[in-house]
Amino acid sequence: MRLVLTNISRLLMAELEPKELVAGADMEKVNTMEDAWLVIEHGRIACFGEGEVIPFADDEVLDCKGGMVFPAFCDSHTHLVYAGSREKEYEDKIRGLSYEEIARRGGGILNSADLLSATPEKQLFEQSLPRAMEIIGSGTGAVEIKSGYGLNTRDEIKMLRVIRRLGEETPLTVKSTFLGAHAFPAACRSDPDRYVKLIVEEMIPAVASEHLADFIDVFCDRGFFTVDQTRTILEAGGKYGLVPKIHANELDYSGGVQVGVEHKARSVDHLEFVGEEEMEVLKNSRTMPTILPGTSLFLGMSYAPARKMIDTGLPVALASDYNPGSSPSGNMELIMSLGIMQLGMLPLEVLNAVTLNGAYAMGLEKTHGSVTPGKNASLIITKPMPSFGFMPYAYGTSQIDRVIINGKIM
Ligand code: NIG
Ligand code: FE
Repeated sequence: MRLVLTNISRLLMAELEPKELVAGADMEKVNTMEDAWLVIEHGRIACFGEGEVIPFADDEVLDCKGGMVFPAFCDSHTHLVYAGSREKEYEDKIRGLSYEEIARRGGGILNSADLLSATPEKQLFEQSLPRAMEIIGSGTGAVEIKSGYGLNTRDEIKMLRVIRRLGEETPLTVKSTFLGAHAFPAACRSDPDRYVKLIVEEMIPAVASEHLADFIDVFCDRGFFTVDQTRTILEAGGKYGLVPKIHANELDYSGGVQVGVEHKARSVDHLEFVGEEEMEVLKNSRTMPTILPGTSLFLGMSYAPARKMIDTGLPVALASDYNPGSSPSGNMELIMSLGIMQLGMLPLEVLNAVTLNGAYAMGLEKTHGSVTPGKNASLIITKPMPSFGFMPYAYGTSQIDRVIINGKIM
């Protein structure tokens, strides 16, 4: 049976000829139809148009009541599989400790790793499932989820199996990333290369033998993995077909952007510390610069220079970084608001950043991120709004009326 959406005031990102990403001045361009309708068949977008539509007798009809319709969010960077929570550390931060100081005391990622190690796989799934359902409710249709709170082979595999199950048992389209190189476990502090060896010789082959990951990630930053260690890990992952998607330049000019681009990373993420050199390297690449403004907000740190990056002709994707330590929210409407309030992006630039460019950052640009015939029918229907810009402007109040994932009304 077909599902016909009627009474759409504006259909945004309606693209008959899909683009793979948008960059620079094009980020402000969004193809729009007024007074539109859209037909969904077999979970995919079948066709759309302007003006009157006459549904078939057996069509299901959904009246959008003058709301806008655009693609569901593509959140290309999350760590939403984790055990417990870390609000106590946030108190330490309020008392004056920095993110790095908390990490050095065994807090931070190592704290989450201890909690995860003590949590059986079934419980880890049960704790993570509500977060997956929550992001669907707030408009996300496709998501990338990372491991990285295991830090040993058994627990990294446990996380990746939970990520796979979330893809199988929820309507979300899930891409999975192996992030064994998220932090050094306490036992390897005095000999970090021993952990790099474990990642290369044991973890990567184990992950690959169960086909548990699409991407490989390394936290390449001051106090975490060096450029040389990152290179070793990305090269080892590459032998198994794992594509890089790395954490870079969150804490310093770490060289992460350069080593990511050198290894044809699909995306380099964070980018709070990005200057002319990094932007030049990105310009000559097919790597998506991905910014996580929720992390800057939550940690009270500087924001990535999104405006400069776009003005220089680069594409930008925005993602939530949903995780227990630096951004405990997967709310992409909030991310859009931070895009306009803190990154100086314009509303339509933000829309491209959380849909098509986010899809590209996950390798999903052929199936997600625009309203294009044949793409997945994962869509957001808004409440009536005076303009699209009202959505990020009215921060803190959701403008979402309905979410459709793979053609099903949630
Ligand atoms: O993307 N920067 C490294 N990793 C995560 C934080 C993880 C944590 O604190 O638990 C991030 O911000
Ligand atoms: Fe992250």
